Amino acid sequence: MSCLTGKSIVLTGGGAGIGFGILRQCIAAGAEVTVFDVNPEHAARVGAEGGHFVQLDVGDPLALQSAAQQISKCDGLVNNAGITIQKPLSHLTLADMELLWAVNQRAVLLLCQALAPKMAEGGAIVNVASNHAKASAAGYEAYAGTKGAIVAMTRALAWSLGPQGIRVNALAPGLTMTETVQRAADATPGLSDTFDAWHASGTPASVDEIGKVAVYLLSDASAALTGSEIIADHGMSARLGALT
Ligand SMILES: NC(=O)c1ccc[n+]([C@@H]2O[C@H](COP(=O)([O-])OP(=O)(O)OC[C@H]3O[C@@H](n4cnc5c(N)ncnc54)[C@H](O)[C@@H]3O)[C@@H](O)[C@H]2O)c1
Repeated sequence: MSCLTGKSIVLTGGGAGIGFGILRQCIAAGAEVTVFDVNPEHAARVGAEGGHFVQLDVGDPLALQSAAQQISKCDGLVNNAGITIQKPLSHLTLADMELLWAVNQRAVLLLCQALAPKMAEGGAIVNVASNHAKASAAGYEAYAGTKGAIVAMTRALAWSLGPQGIRVNALAPGLTMTETVQRAADATPGLSDTFDAWHASGTPASVDEIGKVAVYLLSDASAALTGSEIIADHGMSARLGALT
């Protein structure tokens, strides 16, 4: 028997990138997975993996709450959907800030609020943050803020939901080889080597590696963890860049 057999998981942004790796690994571990994703073009590939697809913009609070109401059984929730806006601080607009907040941060809280009451004891929530919550760079102020907020919210959620037997942890990837990142690497000579050099292992993480960490956090193997943050970035944020 696999570690998620019999578990029903709700996963946001499971149609591409890291979310697709999480989908694949959850299904390989025996889970039933419902994907909330904004892009209808991803429905076919989610279905081909054995997932259920619901088209939904997690930034739309009413649509999110209504989709959550349709969920009858929920043992695990992975809040993965997220967007990145990187631009100079002077160019950052109010609309950029509000969009990042609505999709990356508010949706996490709303889904926890809507689905936690449906979760039985032993339930687990995984909130996908980023190593930008630990160390960041110019132009990422608004994005990094939402990721820091996810880690902070995760700690509070662990205490709100602990008495109900639900664990809540943050998974913070670093640069991960999604389709988008791979396209950028292919388009720019030398970029792939630069990416490799950022990592202690000599290579960025794959989406399936991040998916396996999500499975661990959803499974009983991580029973001792709640309110924790796992940084899964092949050592990228562990480096003292000034010295090397
Ligand atoms: N890729 C990386 O290097 C990296 C690094 C650190 C953290 N992350 C985080 O991992 C998560 C996934 O990122 P990714 O790089 O795989 O992204 P991606 O763009 O490759 O895929 C995102 C998926 O989420 C869906 N999505 C986007 N906005 C949505 C919305 N409003 N409602 C519902 N679905 C939506 C997209 O359709 C897509 O299927 C994000 O939270 C991101 O911040 C990514």
